[in-house]
Amino acid sequence: MKTNTKIYIAGHRGMVGAALMRRLHRAGYTNFVTRTSQELDLRNQAATAEFFAQEKPEVVLLAAAKVGGIVANNTYRGEFIYDNLLIQSNVIHNAYVHGVKKLLHLGSSCMYPQLAPQPIGEAYLLSGPLEPTNEPYAVAKIAGLKLCEAYRAQYGCHFITLLPTNLYGPGDNYHPEHSHMVPALLRRFSEAVALEQPNVEVWGTGTPRRELLHVNDLADACLYLLRHYDEAGPLNVGTGEDHTIAELAELIARLTGFEGTISYDHSRPDGTPRKLLDVSKLHALGWHHRIGLEAGLREVLASAEWWSATGALFNPASPAPWNAERPRRTNMAWPASIRRHRPAAS
Ligand SMILES: NC(=O)c1ccc[n+]([C@@H]2O[C@H](COP(=O)([O-])OP(=O)(O)OC[C@H]3O[C@@H](n4cnc5c(N)ncnc54)[C@H](OP(=O)(O)O)[C@@H]3O)[C@@H](O)[C@H]2O)c1
Repeated sequence: MKTNTKIYIAGHRGMVGAALMRRLHRAGYTNFVTRTSQELDLRNQAATAEFFAQEKPEVVLLAAAKVGGIVANNTYRGEFIYDNLLIQSNVIHNAYVHGVKKLLHLGSSCMYPQLAPQPIGEAYLLSGPLEPTNEPYAVAKIAGLKLCEAYRAQYGCHFITLLPTNLYGPGDNYHPEHSHMVPALLRRFSEAVALEQPNVEVWGTGTPRRELLHVNDLADACLYLLRHYDEAGPLNVGTGEDHTIAELAELIARLTGFEGTISYDHSRPDGTPRKLLDVSKLHALGWHHRIGLEAGLREVLASAEWWSATGALFNPASPAPWNAERPRRTNMAWPASIRRHRPAAS
């Protein structure tokens, strides 16, 4: 891939898309094509075809998707399957039609069966029932992988699919109901410190184990694999290490300066009991993660972007340029006391 290769980052304002853009830019790439979802709704077949015909990108990074946490996945089941099927189909098909040289499609570890043996090797895909709360999303994502495989088999397309584990880092979604686990905990503990609450209640039993990858590490892996990997089938991208939710909550409590108690709301769903990816194939390809969990969380808490994303008035710097034009992803009405407060970041 030359530094002037024309690269379309679908979903460049998202958590992953923005990280990809930062990483590629740092590596010297300059010829990006981007569209917001307002400018180009990738569910629209005709508009997507017209875009590809006009722009003719050489490389496509497909990071546009309808994404959310457990509540959003379970509530908007129709939207999660419909939107993702259309976005993927339109982008992958037009990448074939317009001769894209390489396409990287982002799947997710939730494509694996709920009770897959741990750590989950790539061979366990489609070996059992999916986790019910995010089944529509997972089915759509599996269809995206199969599209890439089928277009490779029939047309010789160099389309690859990566299955990242749970991500955290810059650009995350801090919505009180629609966020993933890490931003939800960061928000809840910071709120408790600001409001001097004695207890934080964490959803579920605290026993499920989760693997967490910093989004900047994912972006680094994507660039590495764009250059060094070209195979059909899924490829796991993770750290190969996991933690219980309780361990994560205790770490975040420490990092936010929370000194109260932590309780667990057993009435809330736990989701999959354990989700640790087998990353031996990724390691054999020569890529390892670099950012440790504690260091990554410290960096998130210290960042101006976090304060902006959470709606805090205390915002020591402007948002990063790649987030600047993006509407705030949360509609949180935080109490004034929180807006004035700034917990210790280290
Ligand atoms: N976040 C995670 O923990 C995680 C973990 C594993 C895998 N992944 C995968 O990584 C990919 C990106 O996730 P993310 O966390 O970066 O999501 P995100 O922050 O919600 O960003 C999604 C992006 O998709 C774009 N988009 C959504 N609907 C669109 C539409 N109809 N037309 C055009 N663009 C549309 C949005 O564009 P606008 O901003 O312009 O509206 C947004 O930039 C997904 O495929 C996801 O499965 C994420």
